[in-house]
Amino acid sequence: MQRPRALITGASAGLGRDYAALFAADGYDLILVARRRERLEEVAAEVKRLHGAESLILAVDLQEAGAAASIAASVEAAGLEVEALVNNAGFGSNGRFWEQPLEGEVGMVQVNVLALVELTRRLLPGMVARKRGRVLNIGSTAGFQPGPYMATYCATKAFVNHFTEALAYELEGTGVTATVHCPGATLTEFGDVSGNGQTLLFRLSPASSREVAAHGYAAMKRGASLVVHGAMNTLVTQANRLTPRRVVRAIAARLLRPAES
Ligand SMILES: NC(=O)c1ccc[n+]([C@@H]2O[C@H](COP(=O)([O-])OP(=O)(O)OC[C@H]3O[C@@H](n4cnc5c(N)ncnc54)[C@H](OP(=O)(O)O)[C@@H]3O)[C@@H](O)[C@H]2O)c1
Repeated sequence: MQRPRALITGASAGLGRDYAALFAADGYDLILVARRRERLEEVAAEVKRLHGAESLILAVDLQEAGAAASIAASVEAAGLEVEALVNNAGFGSNGRFWEQPLEGEVGMVQVNVLALVELTRRLLPGMVARKRGRVLNIGSTAGFQPGPYMATYCATKAFVNHFTEALAYELEGTGVTATVHCPGATLTEFGDVSGNGQTLLFRLSPASSREVAAHGYAAMKRGASLVVHGAMNTLVTQANRLTPRRVVRAIAARLLRPAES
């Protein structure tokens, strides 16, 4: 029996690395995508040793406009069918929007939003035609409200949350599911990369990456549309709906304000 394939973006670190382990343990072979090839090779060696999983490594920068097309072309050239797509790669920034490097803010939209949309659009028709498949997008609790000092990041995650929920609805009855998993603060490389590791949000007891990925994996397996990780995160995202927007903005600003300001 051929093992199914899961394509995971951002598989070189954090949640993506943990998702690679979860899929491999569940009998999948992998397609691992990120920029750091040597890290992907480490992940591939680990899942091979522990679970006998084969990996195709694609060292690709999703910030480049043609990245999703080149990934889809490599998958096709290798004769592989993607049974599960995990759009996990992403990053943020922290500080006043107009003081952030332009390239980083635009690149964030490219990686967090455009690459996710394009990869999904390119790989989903095959799943629908085969009447089976999973799309797991990594959204965030950040996508439930505007986030001063992480304005672009929170907006990208609002897109991911809404896009995926709508997609999940459209996919009903096709045999394919779409799930958006929304973690709160989680201990990965994200805090260092995005410069928000010292914010109040991250000082308030972030969750472990392994636990968060396991929760997201279970949500995907049962075909849930949108799942928030953690009881407190769930409460806060629900309370947002009834709270005046200016209060929601002010609380978010307090949680996301850069440590030095
Ligand atoms: N950690 C949190 O608190 C948290 C909370 C909610 C949601 N999330 C979301 O969870 C997802 C995973 O983040 P994480 O926390 O695991 O962060 P992480 O440890 O920094 O991992 C991010 C992954 O994305 C990849 N990536 C970043 N830019 C890329 C690019 N231009 N091209 C290709 N790959 C790229 C990185 O690989 P390379 O550097 O090797 O390219 C890395 O594998 C993200 O979508 C993030 O927004 C995180």
